[in-house]
Amino acid sequence: MRRMSLPKAYVGLPIQEVGLAVLRGKIDYRIWESTDVPPRERVLEEVRGVEGLLAGIPIRVDAELFDAAPGLRVVSNYAVGYDNIDVAEATKRGICVTNTPGVLTAATADITFALILASMRRVIEANEFLRSGSWKNWEPELLVGREATGSTIGIIGMGQIGQAVAKRAKSFDMEVLYFNPTRKPEAEAAYGARLVSMEELLAESDIVSLHTVFNEKTKNMIGEAELRAMKKTAVLINAARGALVDQKALYRACAEGWIWGAGLDVFVQEPLPLDDPLLTLKNVTTLPHIGSASRAARDGMARKSAENLLAALEGRKPANLVNPGVWEG
Ligand code: GLV
Repeated sequence: MRRMSLPKAYVGLPIQEVGLAVLRGKIDYRIWESTDVPPRERVLEEVRGVEGLLAGIPIRVDAELFDAAPGLRVVSNYAVGYDNIDVAEATKRGICVTNTPGVLTAATADITFALILASMRRVIEANEFLRSGSWKNWEPELLVGREATGSTIGIIGMGQIGQAVAKRAKSFDMEVLYFNPTRKPEAEAAYGARLVSMEELLAESDIVSLHTVFNEKTKNMIGEAELRAMKKTAVLINAARGALVDQKALYRACAEGWIWGAGLDVFVQEPLPLDDPLLTLKNVTTLPHIGSASRAARDGMARKSAENLLAALEGRKPANLVNPGVWEG
């Protein structure tokens, strides 16, 4: 039987036009247009009569939201990570959850290298040094950092992004170690990557870079013990999720010289409060969660999240189902 009206959806963040173009004429959607995060009450009100929700990192999708949206059939996340969504609860209720892998792989691997180079070569510190009028002379020891080329990188999480980082690392003549629940023969063949224990990775790496999913099991996977196990000359890079790292322990590690420094795109609390002690440290580079913020990646995320939403609402299997069991019934 043909339905007489278009399926209804709420787009909870101002996604790019290329995504809206996918929905137009096919979905009856309302959109949150502001760059502020929509107030919780507003989201709960907007989802009341919808079958689809296009969500994003700042929108918590949990039992309370599902209770407010009894007709909900799909939550399409505008992100590859989906720790803002209670997937177990969605699955229990037969609601599809989708994400946007692939389109942001290169952008995130690129920002990882921006953080590696910024941390090791003190790029942000040097920029501030110049602008503050401190540059008096060319000096042999001025702002000397560490050489990325030829160093050893330890990649925690060898998924698509981890492998894109390994690819870049190979062109920097890096030795690539990785820690992952399963072997990745393709990364071993292409980049000479070697699967090691966490102990070996921490002990041997000049760069420890996180590219793993965030969940209750990986929360605080880098804490005091792990930071103390790293080389004093090593950097910790995190462009995945803030709470993979015990941020208080990281502050001490960087302040007290357990490690050389850190490059961070993500934090336990976002936005990072301006009185956070990490911001007092010159050896910590901080970015406002912009790993996927390239034109190509963000347009790709808009398109993919819209296509996933549309597919589910039209009864087609979305390309990027996080909980495929729901579809198979
Ligand atoms: C960004 O953090 C993402 O998960 O896509």
